[in-house]
Amino acid sequence: NQLEMELEAIEKGGYEHFMLKEINEQPRSIADCMRGRLDAKNGRLVLGGLRDYLNKFQNAERIIITACGTSWHAGLVAEYLFEEFARIPVEVEYASEFRYRNPVISEKDFVIAISQSGETADTLAAIELAKSKGATIFGVCNVVGSSIARATHAGSYTHAGPEIGVASTKAFTAQISVLAMMALKLGYQRGTISEARYMHLLAELETIPSKVERALKLNDKIKEIAWEYKDSRNFLYLGRGYNFPVALEGALKLKEISYIHAEGYPAAEMKHGPIALIDQEMPVVFIATKDSSYEKVVSNIQEVKARKGRIIAVVTEGDTTVKHMADHTIEIPETEEAFVPLLSVIPLQQLSYHIAVMRGCNVDQPRNLAKSVTVE
Ligand code: AGP
Repeated sequence: NQLEMELEAIEKGGYEHFMLKEINEQPRSIADCMRGRLDAKNGRLVLGGLRDYLNKFQNAERIIITACGTSWHAGLVAEYLFEEFARIPVEVEYASEFRYRNPVISEKDFVIAISQSGETADTLAAIELAKSKGATIFGVCNVVGSSIARATHAGSYTHAGPEIGVASTKAFTAQISVLAMMALKLGYQRGTISEARYMHLLAELETIPSKVERALKLNDKIKEIAWEYKDSRNFLYLGRGYNFPVALEGALKLKEISYIHAEGYPAAEMKHGPIALIDQEMPVVFIATKDSSYEKVVSNIQEVKARKGRIIAVVTEGDTTVKHMADHTIEIPETEEAFVPLLSVIPLQQLSYHIAVMRGCNVDQPRNLAKSVTVE
């Protein structure tokens, strides 16, 4: 009815869709997530929920991360973060697989469950299983008071605010922000990162909201790219290291809301199969930021180019090498390698959004999907 429609328009805050509103909210939602926790100037990092379990976390023999969908992608980013900064082995498990394969798990394991809604049935079931084996369970949830937030021993909320669009956007960047803070805290406590590096990383993390703001300004350019590729039937997303999970996330966003088949791969895996798909019809989205795997990604780009694939590349501001090879380049601000996913995912969210709108899809409520999957 009229009233409901007007209310919804108000909730959308002038945006055409919740998803677009939520994409654009990210400078603020990431800042909200760090507020009161991160104080780079004084070298302080406080995660209230972690305090009582810090000792256990620090001495864990293994960290197991369990989640589904986009939250699982945030878990993959966290695997790189925890292993790099805290030097503790990490396993990232789909919640649905974890619970059905009698996993080896004990009191020495620290389990992190990630969920926007806090209501995902598979994740909840994985938590119950890990709990029954004596592990400590830490939740990273967005919805306050949700079932997962209550089922865990402790946790940190992402404070991204309500996410209405079925395609998760701001929850993902808030999850990574919490997990990055956890990894830095843990690394510092364990002495696996130096004081100077710790201070530098905290300062860099604090600049992320303003860098996200800058990345969002590329919207018009991305809209043009979207127009060119909106009728493609397939997409490939490739990235390495910290950008590998971002490739998976970019592909998931596209398939969810535009119904275009898309696959994400670690760039180097391309030669083990997906390269056979490449021809002049195939758009390939590369995340090729200036980091430790840059040179390797550049040679993967050359391989695609040699087979006439269409290349859309997300690069670091000022990059000239890739510009000469790619059909389109999207330049995002430079940051520490570990924090790049917080920036590189932004244009991919925008790309999927615009393609879906141009195809006339129901962006906020794609077919066959629900915001939280409460069935197993
Ligand atoms: C993300 O865009 C999806 N809608 C979906 O993969 C989602 O991330 C997944 O169902 C997990 O949800 P949760 O974070 O609420 O547990």
